[in-house]
Formats: sequence, structure tokens, C-alpha cells
Amino acid sequence: MADFQSELKALAKPGDRGDGCRVFIETYGCQMNVYDSQAIGGLLNKDGFDTAADIFEADVVLLNTCSVRELAEHKIISRVGEIRRQRRNAHLPSVTVGICGCMAERLGDELQKGNNRVDLVVGVDNYDKLPGMISELMATQTATRRKRTATGHRTDAHYVAPPVIYPVNNSHLVTIHKGCDYKCTYCIVPYTRGPQTEKSPQAILEEIRTLVETGATEVTLLGQNVTAYHWQKEMDFAALLESVSGIEGLQRIRFLTGHPRDMHQHTMDAIGALDKVCPWLHLPIQSGSNAILKRMKRLYKKEEYLEMVDYARQVVPDVTFSTDIIVGFPGETEEDFQATLEVLRRVKYDQIFSFKYSERPGVPAAKLADDIGTNEKKRRLAEVMALQEKIWNVEAAREVGKTWTGIVEAPARHPGDSWRVRTPNNRKFVVADNLIDQGLKIGDEVSARITGFANTTFLTGE
Ligand code: 5AD
Ligand code: SF4
Repeated sequence: MADFQSELKALAKPGDRGDGCRVFIETYGCQMNVYDSQAIGGLLNKDGFDTAADIFEADVVLLNTCSVRELAEHKIISRVGEIRRQRRNAHLPSVTVGICGCMAERLGDELQKGNNRVDLVVGVDNYDKLPGMISELMATQTATRRKRTATGHRTDAHYVAPPVIYPVNNSHLVTIHKGCDYKCTYCIVPYTRGPQTEKSPQAILEEIRTLVETGATEVTLLGQNVTAYHWQKEMDFAALLESVSGIEGLQRIRFLTGHPRDMHQHTMDAIGALDKVCPWLHLPIQSGSNAILKRMKRLYKKEEYLEMVDYARQVVPDVTFSTDIIVGFPGETEEDFQATLEVLRRVKYDQIFSFKYSERPGVPAAKLADDIGTNEKKRRLAEVMALQEKIWNVEAAREVGKTWTGIVEAPARHPGDSWRVRTPNNRKFVVADNLIDQGLKIGDEVSARITGFANTTFLTGE
């Protein structure tokens, strides 16, 4: 596996390409993009580019994008127009705009046409080219600029975010692999992010050790299918968790996202047995109907999923679950939809992320008629969300009166605001800001008695 940060050293001495050029990165979509944006920032800073605080301060704006649903892509296209407009209204010169991430990979040169065209298109495996591409662009007169694109998959391109404290909810993101080898029929990810390619255990452990040396206490292992991690024949995800647990000074390990099919009993045994591994499983079910699951090519049946949940509850103390759901997949009948609601009643998730099916060009499901009307999709989405709220309100009420312990992840913004705390099983509670006087800071452990809740946030104090 190549480490492009060290390769870049050979290409240019730090500071001689960016020459103070200021770059602002706006991130959309999943945690993988959040990590990638950190890595892009690291590559650019290393090459002498500065970080801009906003689009107004920037010479270059990079949008790190998501293609998972059509609406997400539309928003990006309008954002390009909006950025240019906001700059014009502020009487600032026209800015260089680049698209990175999944949309760059999916649409390539297309993004350099039309009203909201951009100057630069760089896909998920080509970020090491960004410093060179930007400096070439900046050295050329606007009128004679050639548009630049770098896309296409490379198995050697694993970028490493710099070991700066960049926590997201006090957790440092660490990508363990990229891409996806499943072919869920609705999903664009296997095309935009390519085949599943692992970072080596050595590289992962080194990255985490470096983070711990800089003060990190918690990591979130990231991947499209972390549960499918396998390094040659020697290490699967359970074994990786065990190795990461061995890192001295590291206190908590979370991971996102698992595929239910790879959540084996021995993986759950490991999660339950390893003290540092947090008991929170985000396991997208997508649908509770076996007919739909089959058409989605999810490779499990509802019954198997439920068995897995039951097993996890036996072996992982205090485990909580969250999930993703798609409503209105082609051919989803009312009965299919009701089966999804039934799963919600049975599992009692802490949180669900539900989406209306969005047809993506070129994926297998695009051959099926997108036959559930927009209004019906909206109705189903609203119903899923309302049921979840009802279920959650009953579950959350059971927690009132208990004392919870968690880690402070965000400070109060203003006097009187509360501090946000996260428990190992990913529940949030808030504590009063007068704890500041007692020296409370981010990363500290705090215990409090739960007195109520508002949506998914628990309240403490009077
Ligand atoms: N339409 C709607 N939702 C989708 N997802 C993925 N592809 C689509 C699509 N075409 C959802 C899935 C996935 C989450 C990240 O996004 O629920 O788990
Ligand atoms: Fe998409 Fe399925 Fe891969 Fe998840 S597992 S990224 S839903 S193809």
C-alpha cells in the first residue's frame, strides 16, 4: 500500500506548490467523505496550501460530494451556482471550484459543462493529484484554463488523514478499507468507490497509534462494510478489533457501517468481550420484507437479521442498534412496507435513518420500474418516522431515573448552554454548563442521572 503523503515529499518540498493559496473544503454525505476531506486537507497543507475559513476567504473551493441519492447531487449543482453568486455579491473575484468524491467519480467531465460547471473534478482515488492540479490551474489565466479531471479506481490509493486532532464527536475517524464488493441493486457506491480494498492492519494500527500519541482516546473505524474487513487470510474484522484494542492509551473503539450478512456470531462475541469496543451496532436492514430484500440483493432474510439482533443482545452488554431503511423500492407493496414496520416494532432501534428510494443511473435496480409514486413514498417515509418516534418514546422513558456515564464530546457554546455527552452505546445526554467551573473538558468522563428526554437527547438535572 502506498502512502501518498510520503510519495508527495519526493514530488515537492513542503510549501513550494501551494504558495499560500487558500482552499476551503465543504463536505457532504457520509463519514468516509469526512475522513477523505481531512486527508485532502492534509495533502494540500503539506504542499504549502492554506486552509480558508469560508468560501469568501478562499482561492479554491472544493466540494466533497455524495451520489447516493439524486437529491444530494442536485443540491451540489445548485451549491456551485450559489457559491459563485455569493462571491459576486460580495464583490470578490471569481473562485476556482472543484468537485471531489462520489459525484466526481460518477459524472466526471459532465461536471465541466453547463451553467454550474466547475474547474476541477477529482474522484475518490486521485486526491494525491490535487496539489499539482490546483497549482497548474492557478498558474493559468482564467480565460485560457483547460478544465481538469482525474477519475478512475486505483487499488493502491489509501489516503491517510494527518495525525492532527480532528475529532468528530470526540472520535477520530480511521478508514480501514474503501469500496464495496456487494452489489445491492439500488446502490451507486460500488461504482463510485470501486471494489473493496483493505488498508493493511499494520497501516491501521500505525495510524491509530499516531493518533493516540497526539492525544486521541477514541477512534471510529470506517468503511462501507467494516464487518467484511479481511486482510489476506490472516485477519478478519473481529481479529482487527482485537488488535486495535491492544493499543495502549486508546479507550474506545466504534465502527461504521456493518453489513448484517457479515455480522457473524464470533464477531459479536468479540464486540461483547472487548472492553474498549463500544456496544453500538449500526446495521442497515433496508427492508423487512424478504421479497424486497431479495430484489435488493441484500443476501440475508429478515429472520436471519432478527436472529443476529437477538444474539447480539445476549453477548454484548447494553448493546443498542440503529439502522437504515429505504421505502418505496420498486414493487414494494403495502404488505412489504408493513413488514418493515414490524421489524421496527420488534428490534426497537435507538435511531433509524430512513430514505425514499431514489433511482440511480446504471445500477441494477434502475432496470426495474420506479413504480411507487412520490406521494406514496412520502407517506411511507412519514409513517416509518412516526412509528419510530412512538417506539422510541416508550423505550426512552424506561431510562429516566437511571445514572449514565459518558464522555464529554462538545462544550457549551454560551453560558447557560449544556454540554453534550455520549455513552459507549451511542446515546446522548446533556449536562449543565456549571460543570465548567469544576474543570470539565472535552474527552472527560461524566456521570449524571437521567431526568427526561427530547427526541434522542437525554436530559439531566432538575
Ligand atoms: N435510494 C435511497 N436510499 C439509498 N441508500 C443507498 N442507496 C439509495 C438509493 N438509491 C441508503 C441506504 C444506505 C444509506 C447510506 O443510503 O439506506 O444504507
Ligand atoms: Fe451500497 Fe450495499 Fe455496498 Fe452498502 S453494502 S455500500 S448499500 S452496495
